[in-house]
Amino acid sequence: MDCPLYEKIANQIEQQVHEGIFLPGAKIPSVRKSSKQMDVSVATVLQAYSLLEDRGVIKARPQKGYFVQETQLQQNEPAKIEPTQNDGSIHALLRRLLHVSQDESIIQFGAAIPKSPFLPIRQLQRSVGRLMRLEPEICAAYEFTPGSLSLRRQIAIRMLDSGCQLQPDDITITLGCQNALMLSLQAVAKPGDTIAIESPAYHGVLQIIEVLNLKAIEIPCSAQHGIDLNLLEEAAKEWQIKACVVTPNNQNPIGATLNTQARKRLIQQSIQYNFTLIEDDVYGELSYKDKRERSLKADDKHNTVIYCSSFSKSIAPGFRIGWVVGGRFQAQIEHYAYVQSLAVPTLTQTAIANFLENGAYDRHLRKTRQSYQDNLIRCQALIQEHFPKGTHTSTPQGGFLLWVTLPSTINAMTLYTQALDNKIGLLPGLAFSLTAQFSHHFRLNYALNWDNQTDAALKKLGQLCQQQLD
Ligand SMILES: Cc1ncc(COP(=O)(O)O)c(C=O)c1O
Repeated sequence: MDCPLYEKIANQIEQQVHEGIFLPGAKIPSVRKSSKQMDVSVATVLQAYSLLEDRGVIKARPQKGYFVQETQLQQNEPAKIEPTQNDGSIHALLRRLLHVSQDESIIQFGAAIPKSPFLPIRQLQRSVGRLMRLEPEICAAYEFTPGSLSLRRQIAIRMLDSGCQLQPDDITITLGCQNALMLSLQAVAKPGDTIAIESPAYHGVLQIIEVLNLKAIEIPCSAQHGIDLNLLEEAAKEWQIKACVVTPNNQNPIGATLNTQARKRLIQQSIQYNFTLIEDDVYGELSYKDKRERSLKADDKHNTVIYCSSFSKSIAPGFRIGWVVGGRFQAQIEHYAYVQSLAVPTLTQTAIANFLENGAYDRHLRKTRQSYQDNLIRCQALIQEHFPKGTHTSTPQGGFLLWVTLPSTINAMTLYTQALDNKIGLLPGLAFSLTAQFSHHFRLNYALNWDNQTDAALKKLGQLCQQQLD
């Protein structure tokens, strides 16, 4: 039998909360407004809201209206380590959370996008201008998968620094690293397969897992040691893991870098338990050390590693140029890449190949890494000064992302909403797990022009946290 109208309305609103359309702590439309919007009586809406209150989804505040319960989508208990399948809610949540990432009026601590002074925009402008003047036919040419040979040559040269000896034919150009990760998971796994991921994980991987109907096992990750290899081993013994997506260098969001021993053990585990390692190395070149870390791919004697990266974090996120070294999955990956997009834009591939060829990249990297380090020090000092006692931060050795752990009674979703009201963006911890963890954590992008305004914004975030405790 069909459920009554008020129940249908309640279900619809509950779904919207679940999808992140109404965030925890957010005000939902008033009874009168909903009654008008849905063309139903006030009494029906009241019944629906009362049912939602019974279900613990919303809460009435006298004189103020109805608000989504703070506990929605949250739990402080670490999730059990077991495969879970998601239903699209992480995608909806992220779309809500990141919609402000283009808004110039907001201080962008949220999205992992470097501000333009950290990108070689002038050189790229000259390069694109020259290309359009001298080779305008470039716009008419498809650069079919696997992509520009000169770019693949330059990538092979750069990857020597990570210990990889590659031929251009080992490399497929992709639309950023996200596309490389998607193609890799498509090639390795089929719906229902189980993938081990870091926890907290880069949210783009969560979205891929969701859309490919895969199951995820979230393996806890610490800022000091990265993914917990004992727990990964336990999981691999218990479940058939098809692949493990791992970011060995400057992990997003927690900033961890694996030591040499952990890298060896990870490769050993992939051989022993027969899973593919999908190495996401998008922050590999942003290590603060003089020499970048060796990649897992460099020691991949048994061909169990797929390597994914891009120039989005170091040259031009908007160019959408990434690549994948697929190993034994290369043919499949290339096939999927071709079918999905035929080609990656010729202009941006050529501009990046030219930029790499002219030797300015290393100089650019040295400069930006130094600025990131300076920003990190400033950022950590401000957090220590202005945030409540009990706040901790990660200690990244590269990249530009800081993971902030607040006292456990502080709700990072509430902080997100209040921060936005103050024109400050951040990414709350819930975005980094499929199992509603990290409710008192957030990630902060420090690839910003650091000035008095940024200082003030961080100070304000500290005050907002303090207010939740008072
Ligand atoms: C760990 C990680 N992998 C992949 C990506 C996606 O990179 P791209 O912009 O090249 O698609 C990001 C972007 O934030 C990231 O942080």
